[in-house]
Amino acid sequence: MGSVHAVLSIVSDSVVTDAPILIFDSGVGGLSVLQAIRRHLPTAPVVYAMDGAGYPYGQRDDAELTARVPALLGRLVERYRPRLAVIACNTASTIALATVRDALAVPVVGTVPAIKPAAACSATRVIGVLGTRATVRQAYVDDLTRRFAADCRVLRHGAPTLVDYVESTLRDQTPADPDAPRHALAGLFEQPDGNAIDTIVLACTHFPLAADALQGVAPAHVRFVDGAEGIARRCATLLHGQPWPQHTVPGVTVTTGPANACAALAPGLARLGLAPPTTF
Ligand code: DGL
Repeated sequence: MGSVHAVLSIVSDSVVTDAPILIFDSGVGGLSVLQAIRRHLPTAPVVYAMDGAGYPYGQRDDAELTARVPALLGRLVERYRPRLAVIACNTASTIALATVRDALAVPVVGTVPAIKPAAACSATRVIGVLGTRATVRQAYVDDLTRRFAADCRVLRHGAPTLVDYVESTLRDQTPADPDAPRHALAGLFEQPDGNAIDTIVLACTHFPLAADALQGVAPAHVRFVDGAEGIARRCATLLHGQPWPQHTVPGVTVTTGPANACAALAPGLARLGLAPPTTF
């Protein structure tokens, strides 16, 4: 019987039922993507990987991330044998997605600023893009703007203190700038034409985790859009027909930094069905 079960667990396209989805970010931001993936694929085993030693990505230069991200993902894929990898980080994706895809044998879903859906719903044709400093300077963002928002004015702002705000609040710690959501929005609204912004792209996966705080300090008509739902749909499409466990199994959490630096995240991770972090 045991061997029959073993055979049954290896199914079409050689995907093993318990093969995980690997979700990768510099820190906790990818949890916003994990939540969306869970809604579409509730029993999918997951490995949530944080590059604690490399955080924050938004303050690093492109060459460093172009080397670091593919190397790290290569090691993670070798270790966890995922059925699919998600780069749940705008910064890493806009800089290194193509290189990672070339280097890995598994499908890779990236996260790119949701400029296309924002342009589809903006009435004023003035859109804000809130990301890390590294993301908002990328040619990738110029390209998305040209392709999907050519008739819009697209204003960008890099908000590192908002990344720190999310990391700190998820650990129940006081952020360096407790007013970071207001300051981040001021960085957009105070630009020329900023007062006409009606749609803001949350172009950093950390930022949807501060959605309530952002909405609370934004003018009531401003709408926020992010890519999490689209990423989850893409994963579900790519993995359609693959076998899944019948019940949810606790997800694995790893960090490249010291595990104790993430100990305060354990209760929040547990609420998302993730085990306490260990060092990778
Ligand atoms: N969550 C990340 C992003 O989507 C990066 C934040 C950081 O490490 O600066 O860009």
